[in-house]
Amino acid sequence: MAVLNVNGKSLQANADPRTPLLWVLRDTLGLTGTKYGCGIAQCGACTVHIDGVATRSCQVPLSSVGGKKIVTIEGLAEDGQLNKIQQAWLDHDVPQCGYCQSGMIMAATALLAAKPQPTDADIDAAMTNICRCGTYKQVREAIRAAAKA
Ligand code: FES
Ligand code: FES
Repeated sequence: MAVLNVNGKSLQANADPRTPLLWVLRDTLGLTGTKYGCGIAQCGACTVHIDGVATRSCQVPLSSVGGKKIVTIEGLAEDGQLNKIQQAWLDHDVPQCGYCQSGMIMAATALLAAKPQPTDADIDAAMTNICRCGTYKQVREAIRAAAKA
């Protein structure tokens, strides 16, 4: 039994220590906002924050996250208020099918926390998530807007 800090709560996860965090979040803890895309750290659909760093949870074993602060898409809004990136996503109609978008939002939120005024090069370097609907242009526009908000 592992005790995890997820979205500010202490949660118990009964899973094999080798289980990737993605599956612990989805199957054990019921936090299904984090998506499975590729399982090999390529697509970014499974991105969460671990101690503030955008991390592909399909490659992180449960055994390595005890004591670390995990934030998922379900934990971004505070007191019912969307964060700047979430609001910009709505304002710019970014999502199409939506499947990749929680990972995109987690990556973008971590980027703005680290670099409040990112350059286009910073955005390109941070946003390596794959979107089969091709929302890349809208993603970049929303990040630029959120940086100005
Ligand atoms: S599911 Fe983790 S990067 Fe694709
Ligand atoms: S919005 Fe459909 S995969 Fe990105």
